[in-house]
Amino acid sequence: MHQDIERLKQEFELDWQSADNAQETESLRVKYLGRKAFINELFTRIVQMPALERGNWGKELNQVKQYLTARIAEKGSSSAGQEARLDLTYPALNLNEGSRHVLVSVMENICGIFEKLGFIVAWGNETEDEWHNFAALNFPQDHPSRDSFDTFYLDLPATKFGKSLLRCHTSPSQPRIMKEHKPPLAVVSPGRVYRPDEVDATHSFMFHQIEGFAVAEDINFAQLKGVLLSFARQFFSPDVNIRLRPHYFPFTEPSAEADISCFLCKGKRNPEKKCSVCKDKGWIEVLGCGMIHPNVLENCEIDSKKYQGFAFGMGVERIAMLKYGITDIRLFYENDKRFLEQF
Ligand code: DAH
Repeated sequence: MHQDIERLKQEFELDWQSADNAQETESLRVKYLGRKAFINELFTRIVQMPALERGNWGKELNQVKQYLTARIAEKGSSSAGQEARLDLTYPALNLNEGSRHVLVSVMENICGIFEKLGFIVAWGNETEDEWHNFAALNFPQDHPSRDSFDTFYLDLPATKFGKSLLRCHTSPSQPRIMKEHKPPLAVVSPGRVYRPDEVDATHSFMFHQIEGFAVAEDINFAQLKGVLLSFARQFFSPDVNIRLRPHYFPFTEPSAEADISCFLCKGKRNPEKKCSVCKDKGWIEVLGCGMIHPNVLENCEIDSKKYQGFAFGMGVERIAMLKYGITDIRLFYENDKRFLEQF
Protein backbone atom coordinates (compact mmCIF):
# COMPACT_ATOMS: atom_id res chain seq x y z
CA MET A 1 0.00 0.00 0.00
CA HIS A 2 2.77 2.38 0.99
CA GLN A 3 4.62 1.73 -2.21
CA ASP A 4 1.49 2.24 -4.28
CA ILE A 5 0.84 5.58 -2.62
CA GLU A 6 4.42 6.66 -3.24
CA ARG A 7 4.21 5.64 -6.90
CA LEU A 8 0.93 7.48 -7.27
CA LYS A 9 2.46 10.65 -5.82
CA GLN A 10 5.55 10.43 -8.04
CA GLU A 11 3.55 9.87 -11.20
CA PHE A 12 1.18 12.66 -10.20
CA GLU A 13 4.10 15.00 -9.70
CA LEU A 14 5.37 14.39 -13.23
CA ASP A 15 1.92 14.75 -14.78
CA TRP A 16 1.23 17.83 -12.71
CA GLN A 17 4.36 19.54 -13.97
CA SER A 18 3.65 18.87 -17.61
CA ALA A 19 -0.01 19.99 -17.52
CA ASP A 20 0.06 23.58 -18.68
CA ASN A 21 -3.29 24.38 -20.13
CA ALA A 22 -6.92 24.00 -19.14
CA GLN A 23 -7.41 20.85 -21.21
CA GLU A 24 -4.40 19.08 -19.71
CA THR A 25 -5.44 20.11 -16.21
CA GLU A 26 -8.84 18.54 -16.83
CA SER A 27 -7.17 15.29 -18.00
CA LEU A 28 -5.09 15.41 -14.82
CA ARG A 29 -8.25 15.75 -12.75
CA VAL A 30 -9.95 12.84 -14.54
CA LYS A 31 -6.86 10.64 -14.18
CA TYR A 32 -6.27 11.26 -10.46
CA LEU A 33 -9.71 12.10 -9.08
CA GLY A 34 -12.15 10.72 -11.66
CA ARG A 35 -14.29 7.62 -11.38
CA LYS A 36 -11.54 5.30 -12.65
CA ALA A 37 -8.75 6.98 -10.68
CA PHE A 38 -6.17 4.76 -9.03
CA ILE A 39 -6.91 6.29 -5.65
CA ASN A 40 -10.42 4.79 -5.77
CA GLU A 41 -8.88 1.38 -6.23
CA LEU A 42 -6.72 2.00 -3.16
CA PHE A 43 -9.83 2.95 -1.18
CA THR A 44 -11.48 -0.35 -2.14
CA ARG A 45 -8.46 -2.23 -0.83
CA ILE A 46 -9.14 -0.91 2.69
CA VAL A 47 -12.08 -3.27 3.06
CA GLN A 48 -9.72 -6.20 2.77
CA MET A 49 -7.42 -4.89 5.49
CA PRO A 50 -7.37 -5.95 9.12
CA ALA A 51 -10.05 -3.98 10.92
CA LEU A 52 -7.52 -2.19 13.14
CA GLU A 53 -5.53 -0.78 10.25
CA ARG A 54 -8.52 0.44 8.21
CA GLY A 55 -8.91 3.74 10.08
CA ASN A 56 -5.29 4.78 9.52
CA TRP A 57 -5.27 3.85 5.84
CA GLY A 58 -8.56 5.63 5.38
CA LYS A 59 -7.07 8.80 6.92
CA GLU A 60 -3.92 8.48 4.86
CA LEU A 61 -5.79 8.01 1.59
CA ASN A 62 -8.09 10.92 2.39
CA GLN A 63 -5.04 13.11 2.93
CA VAL A 64 -3.60 11.96 -0.39
CA LYS A 65 -6.90 12.76 -2.08
CA GLN A 66 -7.06 16.19 -0.45
CA TYR A 67 -3.48 16.81 -1.53
CA LEU A 68 -4.27 15.84 -5.15
CA THR A 69 -7.40 17.98 -5.14
CA ALA A 70 -5.55 21.00 -3.80
CA ARG A 71 -2.67 20.66 -6.26
CA ILE A 72 -5.05 20.31 -9.20
CA ALA A 73 -7.06 23.29 -7.97
CA GLU A 74 -3.82 25.28 -7.92
CA LYS A 75 -3.33 24.48 -11.61
CA GLY A 76 -6.94 25.30 -12.25
CA SER A 77 -6.63 28.80 -10.86
CA SER A 78 -3.35 29.58 -12.57
CA SER A 79 -4.61 28.37 -15.94
CA ALA A 80 -7.81 30.32 -15.36
CA GLY A 81 -5.45 33.26 -15.01
CA GLN A 82 -4.01 32.52 -18.42
CA GLU A 83 -7.44 32.25 -19.96
CA ALA A 84 -8.37 35.69 -18.70
CA ARG A 85 -6.30 36.99 -21.61
CA LEU A 86 -8.96 35.59 -23.90
CA ASP A 87 -11.83 36.97 -21.85
CA LEU A 88 -14.12 38.39 -24.51
CA THR A 89 -15.96 40.50 -21.98
CA TYR A 90 -12.77 42.36 -21.04
CA PRO A 91 -13.02 46.07 -21.99
CA ALA A 92 -11.36 46.72 -25.36
CA LEU A 93 -8.08 48.55 -25.59
CA ASN A 94 -8.36 52.09 -26.83
CA LEU A 95 -8.59 51.86 -30.58
CA ASN A 96 -6.61 54.42 -32.49
CA GLU A 97 -9.31 56.24 -34.31
CA GLY A 98 -8.05 57.62 -37.60
CA SER A 99 -8.88 61.02 -39.01
CA ARG A 100 -8.75 62.75 -42.34
CA HIS A 101 -5.24 63.61 -43.46
CA VAL A 102 -4.67 67.36 -43.35
CA LEU A 103 -4.02 67.42 -47.13
CA VAL A 104 -7.30 65.63 -47.80
CA SER A 105 -9.24 68.04 -45.63
CA VAL A 106 -7.54 71.07 -47.22
CA MET A 107 -8.40 69.71 -50.67
CA GLU A 108 -11.99 69.08 -49.63
CA ASN A 109 -12.16 72.53 -48.15
CA ILE A 110 -10.84 74.21 -51.30
CA CYS A 111 -13.05 72.13 -53.63
CA GLY A 112 -16.05 72.83 -51.37
CA ILE A 113 -15.54 76.58 -51.80
CA PHE A 114 -15.43 76.23 -55.58
CA GLU A 115 -18.47 73.94 -55.54
CA LYS A 116 -20.43 76.73 -53.85
CA LEU A 117 -19.32 78.98 -56.72
CA GLY A 118 -20.82 76.54 -59.23
CA PHE A 119 -17.81 74.38 -60.10
CA ILE A 120 -18.02 70.60 -60.21
CA VAL A 121 -15.23 68.32 -58.94
CA ALA A 122 -13.67 65.88 -61.43
CA TRP A 123 -10.57 63.76 -60.89
CA GLY A 124 -8.09 63.33 -63.70
CA ASN A 125 -5.55 60.56 -64.35
CA GLU A 126 -2.27 60.23 -62.46
CA THR A 127 -0.71 58.27 -65.30
CA GLU A 128 -0.91 60.45 -68.35
CA ASP A 129 0.61 60.71 -71.79
CA GLU A 130 2.60 63.35 -73.62
CA TRP A 131 -0.41 64.64 -75.49
CA HIS A 132 -2.58 65.40 -72.45
CA ASN A 133 0.28 66.50 -70.20
CA PHE A 134 2.06 68.70 -72.76
CA ALA A 135 0.98 68.91 -76.42
CA ALA A 136 -2.72 69.58 -75.85
CA LEU A 137 -1.68 72.27 -73.37
CA ASN A 138 0.36 74.07 -76.01
CA PHE A 139 3.80 73.07 -74.73
CA PRO A 140 6.20 73.21 -77.67
CA GLN A 141 8.08 70.03 -78.58
CA ASP A 142 11.31 71.39 -77.08
CA HIS A 143 9.88 72.72 -73.81
CA PRO A 144 12.27 71.94 -70.91
CA SER A 145 9.50 70.43 -68.76
CA ARG A 146 9.31 67.56 -71.23
CA ASP A 147 12.83 66.54 -70.30
CA SER A 148 13.18 63.37 -68.24
CA PHE A 149 14.89 65.52 -65.58
CA ASP A 150 11.52 67.17 -65.02
CA THR A 151 9.02 64.41 -65.77
CA PHE A 152 8.82 60.75 -64.77
CA TYR A 153 8.37 58.70 -67.94
CA LEU A 154 6.89 55.22 -67.60
CA ASP A 155 8.40 52.16 -69.16
CA LEU A 156 5.32 51.40 -71.27
CA PRO A 157 4.84 51.20 -75.03
CA ALA A 158 4.02 54.58 -76.60
CA THR A 159 0.53 55.11 -77.98
CA LYS A 160 -0.84 57.60 -80.49
CA PHE A 161 -0.79 60.03 -77.53
CA GLY A 162 2.96 59.57 -77.14
CA LYS A 163 4.93 58.22 -74.23
CA SER A 164 3.27 57.38 -70.90
CA LEU A 165 4.27 59.41 -67.88
CA LEU A 166 3.26 60.43 -64.37
CA ARG A 167 1.57 63.77 -64.76
CA CYS A 168 3.71 66.66 -63.53
CA HIS A 169 0.70 68.92 -62.99
CA THR A 170 -3.09 68.65 -62.83
CA SER A 171 -3.51 70.76 -65.99
CA PRO A 172 -4.02 67.63 -68.19
CA SER A 173 -7.45 67.44 -66.52
CA GLN A 174 -8.34 70.34 -68.84
CA PRO A 175 -7.98 68.41 -72.13
CA ARG A 176 -9.26 65.20 -70.47
CA ILE A 177 -12.52 66.94 -69.61
CA MET A 178 -12.76 69.34 -72.56
CA LYS A 179 -12.43 66.47 -75.07
CA GLU A 180 -15.36 64.66 -73.44
CA HIS A 181 -17.63 67.51 -72.34
CA LYS A 182 -18.53 70.66 -74.17
CA PRO A 183 -19.04 74.15 -72.68
CA PRO A 184 -20.36 75.61 -70.53
CA LEU A 185 -17.90 74.03 -68.08
CA ALA A 186 -16.73 74.98 -64.60
CA VAL A 187 -14.53 72.30 -63.05
CA VAL A 188 -12.04 71.85 -60.24
CA SER A 189 -9.77 68.84 -60.44
CA PRO A 190 -7.65 67.85 -57.42
CA GLY A 191 -5.03 65.14 -57.27
CA ARG A 192 -1.44 63.97 -57.03
CA VAL A 193 1.32 65.11 -59.34
CA TYR A 194 4.91 63.87 -59.68
CA ARG A 195 8.22 65.52 -60.42
CA PRO A 196 11.77 64.16 -60.16
CA ASP A 197 12.73 66.83 -57.63
CA GLU A 198 15.28 66.39 -54.90
CA VAL A 199 13.32 66.07 -51.64
CA ASP A 200 13.87 68.91 -49.18
CA ALA A 201 11.81 71.11 -46.85
CA THR A 202 9.82 72.59 -49.74
CA HIS A 203 10.07 69.93 -52.49
CA SER A 204 8.76 66.42 -52.85
CA PHE A 205 8.73 64.01 -55.81
CA MET A 206 4.97 63.73 -55.25
CA PHE A 207 2.61 66.47 -54.17
CA HIS A 208 -0.95 67.65 -54.76
CA GLN A 209 -2.47 70.31 -56.94
CA ILE A 210 -5.92 71.60 -57.68
CA GLU A 211 -6.68 72.67 -61.20
CA GLY A 212 -9.66 74.87 -61.94
CA PHE A 213 -11.15 76.12 -65.18
CA ALA A 214 -14.29 77.55 -66.68
CA VAL A 215 -15.19 77.62 -70.37
CA ALA A 216 -18.25 79.32 -71.81
CA GLU A 217 -19.24 82.16 -74.12
CA ASP A 218 -18.05 85.52 -72.79
CA ILE A 219 -15.78 84.29 -70.02
CA ASN A 220 -13.40 87.07 -69.12
CA PHE A 221 -10.42 87.96 -66.96
CA ALA A 222 -12.54 89.95 -64.48
CA GLN A 223 -14.53 86.80 -63.73
CA LEU A 224 -11.27 84.94 -63.07
CA LYS A 225 -10.22 87.63 -60.64
CA GLY A 226 -13.62 87.64 -58.94
CA VAL A 227 -13.61 83.86 -58.49
CA LEU A 228 -10.06 83.90 -57.07
CA LEU A 229 -10.85 86.76 -54.70
CA SER A 230 -13.93 84.98 -53.45
CA PHE A 231 -11.92 81.79 -52.91
CA ALA A 232 -9.10 83.63 -51.09
CA ARG A 233 -11.52 85.40 -48.74
CA GLN A 234 -13.37 82.20 -47.88
CA PHE A 235 -10.26 80.10 -47.44
CA PHE A 236 -7.73 82.43 -45.80
CA SER A 237 -9.52 85.36 -44.24
CA PRO A 238 -12.44 87.64 -45.21
CA ASP A 239 -10.18 90.69 -45.30
CA VAL A 240 -7.51 89.47 -47.75
CA ASN A 241 -7.00 91.04 -51.16
CA ILE A 242 -5.45 89.57 -54.26
CA ARG A 243 -3.13 90.95 -56.88
CA LEU A 244 -2.27 89.45 -60.25
CA ARG A 245 1.28 89.71 -61.58
CA PRO A 246 1.98 89.04 -65.27
CA HIS A 247 3.63 85.67 -65.82
CA TYR A 248 4.04 83.04 -68.52
CA PHE A 249 2.44 79.61 -68.94
CA PRO A 250 2.16 77.89 -72.36
CA PHE A 251 -1.51 77.04 -71.85
CA THR A 252 -2.81 80.48 -70.85
CA GLU A 253 -2.64 83.86 -72.53
CA PRO A 254 -2.48 86.25 -70.82
CA SER A 255 -1.07 84.47 -67.78
CA ALA A 256 -0.58 85.66 -64.23
CA GLU A 257 0.55 84.63 -60.82
CA ALA A 258 -1.91 85.44 -58.06
CA ASP A 259 -0.75 86.72 -54.70
CA ILE A 260 -2.90 87.23 -51.63
CA SER A 261 -2.24 89.97 -49.11
CA CYS A 262 -0.70 88.51 -45.97
CA PHE A 263 -3.46 87.15 -43.73
CA LEU A 264 -1.13 87.13 -40.74
CA CYS A 265 0.55 90.54 -40.58
CA LYS A 266 -2.03 92.23 -42.86
CA GLY A 267 0.88 94.04 -44.48
CA LYS A 268 1.68 95.98 -41.30
CA ARG A 269 5.40 95.75 -40.70
CA ASN A 270 6.56 95.02 -37.19
CA PRO A 271 10.15 96.32 -36.80
CA GLU A 272 10.68 93.91 -33.88
CA LYS A 273 9.81 90.70 -35.73
CA LYS A 274 9.72 89.60 -39.35
CA CYS A 275 6.38 88.14 -40.45
CA SER A 276 6.72 84.36 -40.53
CA VAL A 277 4.25 83.98 -43.40
CA CYS A 278 5.14 86.72 -45.92
CA LYS A 279 8.66 87.58 -44.68
CA ASP A 280 7.53 91.23 -44.60
CA LYS A 281 6.69 91.27 -48.31
CA GLY A 282 3.02 91.83 -47.48
CA TRP A 283 2.01 89.44 -50.29
CA ILE A 284 2.10 85.67 -50.68
CA GLU A 285 2.17 83.85 -54.00
CA VAL A 286 -0.60 81.25 -54.08
CA LEU A 287 -1.33 80.13 -57.63
CA GLY A 288 -0.89 80.45 -61.38
CA CYS A 289 -3.75 81.44 -63.66
CA GLY A 290 -4.79 83.02 -66.92
CA MET A 291 -7.15 82.91 -69.88
CA ILE A 292 -7.04 79.51 -71.58
CA HIS A 293 -4.92 79.76 -74.73
CA PRO A 294 -7.06 79.45 -77.90
CA ASN A 295 -4.77 76.64 -79.08
CA VAL A 296 -5.77 74.59 -76.03
CA LEU A 297 -9.46 75.04 -76.80
CA GLU A 298 -8.90 74.13 -80.46
CA ASN A 299 -6.82 71.07 -79.46
CA CYS A 300 -9.91 69.92 -77.59
CA GLU A 301 -12.21 70.69 -80.53
CA ILE A 302 -13.79 73.70 -78.88
CA ASP A 303 -14.35 76.72 -81.13
CA SER A 304 -12.06 79.42 -79.73
CA LYS A 305 -13.94 82.15 -81.63
CA LYS A 306 -17.12 81.28 -79.79
CA TYR A 307 -15.80 80.21 -76.40
CA GLN A 308 -13.31 81.58 -73.93
CA GLY A 309 -12.07 80.15 -70.67
CA PHE A 310 -10.01 80.91 -67.62
CA ALA A 311 -7.85 78.46 -65.70
CA PHE A 312 -5.87 78.35 -62.48
CA GLY A 313 -3.72 75.86 -60.66
CA MET A 314 -2.53 75.75 -57.06
CA GLY A 315 -0.30 73.56 -54.93
CA VAL A 316 -2.17 72.01 -52.02
CA GLU A 317 0.87 71.44 -49.78
CA ARG A 318 1.99 75.04 -50.25
CA ILE A 319 -1.44 76.36 -49.31
CA ALA A 320 -1.73 74.02 -46.30
CA MET A 321 1.76 75.06 -45.17
CA LEU A 322 0.82 78.73 -45.41
CA LYS A 323 -2.46 78.27 -43.62
CA TYR A 324 -1.11 76.18 -40.73
CA GLY A 325 2.43 77.55 -40.49
CA ILE A 326 4.02 74.21 -41.46
CA THR A 327 7.67 74.68 -42.37
CA ASP A 328 8.64 71.26 -43.78
CA ILE A 329 6.70 69.53 -46.59
CA ARG A 330 8.06 66.10 -45.53
CA LEU A 331 5.87 66.21 -42.41
CA PHE A 332 2.83 65.54 -44.60
CA TYR A 333 4.11 62.15 -45.72
CA GLU A 334 5.84 60.71 -42.66
CA ASN A 335 2.70 59.44 -40.94
CA ASP A 336 3.85 60.79 -37.60
CA LYS A 337 0.74 60.76 -35.44
CA ARG A 338 2.00 63.67 -33.33
CA PHE A 339 1.87 65.80 -36.48
CA LEU A 340 -1.31 64.39 -37.99
CA GLU A 341 -3.34 64.55 -34.77
CA GLN A 342 -3.11 68.34 -34.74
CA PHE A 343 -5.52 68.77 -37.63
N1 DAH B 1 0.20 73.76 -64.25
C1 DAH B 1 0.91 74.83 -63.58
C2 DAH B 1 2.05 74.29 -62.75
O1 DAH B 1 2.06 73.13 -62.45
C3 DAH B 1 -0.02 75.59 -62.68
C4 DAH B 1 -1.02 76.40 -63.46
C5 DAH B 1 -0.72 77.68 -63.85
C6 DAH B 1 -2.25 75.87 -63.82
C7 DAH B 1 -1.59 78.46 -64.55
C8 DAH B 1 -3.16 76.63 -64.55
C9 DAH B 1 -2.82 77.94 -64.91
O2 DAH B 1 -4.35 76.17 -64.93
O3 DAH B 1 -3.70 78.69 -65.62
O4 DAH B 1 2.93 75.00 -62.40
